[in-house]
Amino acid sequence: MRSNVRQGWWISALAAVVVAAGACVDEKIVYRDGPAFVAPPAAAANFLGYSDTATNKTVCGNCHVTQQGKWSQTAHSDAWATLQGSGYAAATCEGCHTVSNKGNKVTDANVAYNSTKDVRYHDVQCESCHGPGLDHVTAPARGQMLASVHADTGAGVTNGCAECHTGTHNPFVEEWRSSRHATSYTRGYNGATATAPDIPFGPRAACKGCHIGQDVLASWGVNTNYEEKTKGNVIATAEGVTCVVCHDPHGSEHPKQLRYAVDATDAESNLCAKCHNRRSTPDWSGSRDSPHAPHGPLVFGTAGWWPPGIEFIETQSTHGSSANPKLCATCHVQRYNVNDKTTGQFQVTVVGHRWLPIPCVDANGRPTDSQSCTVTGRSFKACASGGCHGNSELNARSAFISAGNDVAGLTTLLDGMIAQVPSNQFGAGKVTAGRGAKFNSEMAKMHGSEVHNPFLVKTLLRYSGVALNQTYGIPIPPGLAPTPADVKRVRITTPTTR
Ligand code: HEC
Ligand code: HEC
Ligand code: HEC
Ligand code: HEC
Ligand code: HEC
Ligand code: HEC
Ligand code: HEC
Ligand code: HEC
Repeated sequence: MRSNVRQGWWISALAAVVVAAGACVDEKIVYRDGPAFVAPPAAAANFLGYSDTATNKTVCGNCHVTQQGKWSQTAHSDAWATLQGSGYAAATCEGCHTVSNKGNKVTDANVAYNSTKDVRYHDVQCESCHGPGLDHVTAPARGQMLASVHADTGAGVTNGCAECHTGTHNPFVEEWRSSRHATSYTRGYNGATATAPDIPFGPRAACKGCHIGQDVLASWGVNTNYEEKTKGNVIATAEGVTCVVCHDPHGSEHPKQLRYAVDATDAESNLCAKCHNRRSTPDWSGSRDSPHAPHGPLVFGTAGWWPPGIEFIETQSTHGSSANPKLCATCHVQRYNVNDKTTGQFQVTVVGHRWLPIPCVDANGRPTDSQSCTVTGRSFKACASGGCHGNSELNARSAFISAGNDVAGLTTLLDGMIAQVPSNQFGAGKVTAGRGAKFNSEMAKMHGSEVHNPFLVKTLLRYSGVALNQTYGIPIPPGLAPTPADVKRVRITTPTTR
């Protein structure tokens, strides 16, 4: 039997010690003569919970003051009150709104709140993710208590965020798992695929900072220890863009615990654009004449090949302006409930973690597994809220169709000109109008370009035609020449005679 009150485990009389584990670690561990904590009931199986429930003071937070401070501002620290306030609280709800086996490696459900019903285990606390802490607080050392950044990709591992953020009301992991964010790491290794044996030369430096979870975190300055930290060197244990890549587990100055803002209007500080910004202007030294994730710069109006002597003005799209404060997230992270059309019965909450802006939906409005329907099978709900497109999905759909037709028509005309460009104008190291025009054409053909920035895309296509005409004397086909609206969007900075 453990004594009821444990004394003397606080490392005595030491002032604040700053632990310098890595360049960016600012974690403060405070050693002090503290209030001894009340020993946990034996049935809790080494989970400690709160040292003061009334003030949300965790036992862990007595030493790890940085995490305690951040975490106490998150919804996790209110999860019990939220449940009670809902009017639907029931025993079956409690496992995810308290400290339990959920979120950590413990598999026996008969622990912590479940086995004790003690108020000290209310809310989603440190130990929800880090596991039971009694041994650690008795003899703390580095390398203990590591949490996981892995999200269940269907391989049967349940641990971390996914163990709670699941099910019909919270299908975050189910949605995420079917998106390419879950498998992005497969692109980060030379020639390897998820099923191929690991290759000796490991992750590619040029790719890993966006495609491999461990390397994204490192490149964003997250140098903390976690289970998978040192395992990104082989494909079998690499992570994709998992929950913890986008969300700070301890809390953040940004809403929804996001590591970066979704409402930042520049490609460097916007969460999505931090990765969706690889090659948005031609890389003349390489041989690729196509963009690679240009979405951020395209929405913000800086993408594409701007022919020399021409400056585009007012290039930011409406969708990238303050008219759309949540930017990418408005369209790609939509949340709504799906009810059965005839009975009105709740079916599922869609939480937007498949990133589908105009999903193919079934009769009830639920996104289907296959996303290869025609435009009439798509929902334009995200485009028709908050006064946008006259709150009409039909308006939004016709805007989408007509912008798509415009862009496709112009691209076909430009491709006809590009086909007449001498072949010696293409290839690595060449800085030519032919390559520039090809880049703009490829960008226009990417999914969503007509939505991300229709005006810039169309103007770029038309002035690419002008540049091919001036450089190579290829005639501009009718319909591709700049319109008065395009002319207003450019400033000619050098004479345009050829
Ligand atoms: C008595 C003070 C104290 C308490 C209470 C405490 N820790 Fe620690 N913790 C430490 C010390 C000291 C280290 C080692 C840090 C070092 O040496 O850099 C540590 C290390 C850790 C680490 C590993 C960090 C790494 O980089 O390897 C984690 C994770 C952690 N603690 C989580 C927790 C959790 C969760 C709780 C609550 C169950 C908790 N700690 C309670 C003092 C404490
Ligand atoms: C499988 C784990 C799990 C179970 C079981 C669970 N919840 Fe939750 N609950 C969550 C998660 C995760 C969130 C956070 C959702 C978010 O922020 O999008 C949440 C959020 C909530 C919220 C606040 C957000 C909202 O949707 O209004 C309420 C209220 C709530 N749950 C009530 C309940 C009730 C009542 C039950 C039992 C009938 C229950 N929960 C069972 C995981 C769970
Ligand atoms: C033990 C269950 C559990 C685990 C594990 C868990 N969560 Fe939650 N999470 C919840 C519940 C319950 C809520 C809703 C709390 C409320 O609304 O009061 C929630 C809310 C959230 C929210 C909404 C925040 C807001 O401000 O609205 C985010 C984001 C979130 N969790 C992310 C995560 C991430 C990321 C992880 C893994 C690192 C994780 N959660 C692990 C249960 C859990
Ligand atoms: C700056 C971040 C970043 C870097 C660096 C990066 N990528 Fe990507 N990559 C992305 C994003 C974001 C997408 C998703 C784009 C899309 O769906 O259009 C993507 C998509 C891809 C795709 C799928 C393209 C498609 O259309 O299906 C492949 C293949 C790929 N990347 C390979 C690589 C390789 C190989 C490297 C290194 C040489 C690399 N990436 C470097 C961000 C990056
Ligand atoms: C929702 C899950 C979750 C919760 C709740 C949570 N953590 Fe963590 N913690 C993580 C993850 C994941 C990491 C590693 C990634 C990171 O630091 O962003 C981590 C890292 C840490 C580290 C490692 C720091 C280092 O220098 O290596 C410490 C210490 C820590 N947490 C303490 C706490 C304490 C104390 C609390 C409660 C006040 C807490 N955590 C709550 C998931 C969580
Ligand atoms: C690519 C980045 C990204 C990844 C990966 C990601 N999220 Fe999110 N998540 C977001 C964004 C952005 C929002 C907020 C959208 C908004 O503000 O409308 C969000 C919102 C949430 C919310 C709050 C929902 C609400 O309506 O209050 C929860 C809970 C959440 N995510 C959990 C998770 C979990 C669990 C995972 C992993 C299975 C995950 N997220 C993976 C970007 C991400
Ligand atoms: C850490 C880097 C990173 C962040 C942050 C990120 N993405 Fe991605 N995203 C990628 C990569 C890499 C891919 C492509 C993966 C592949 O094809 O293998 C991708 C793919 C996508 C796709 C295609 C999904 C599919 O299943 O076809 C969409 C849409 C997308 N991202 C939107 C977003 C949005 C919106 C945000 C912000 C909420 C965001 N991304 C944040 C790296 C990121
Ligand atoms: C106004 C709504 C809107 C905004 C804002 C928006 N997108 Fe999109 N996005 C779309 C639409 C519509 C598509 C086309 C989807 C399709 O064809 O299925 C798309 C396509 C994409 C794709 C290609 C997905 C695929 O399946 O190949 C990626 C990646 C993407 N967007 C990322 C982003 C990022 C990153 C941002 C912010 C910088 C952003 N989007 C802003 C609506 C939007």
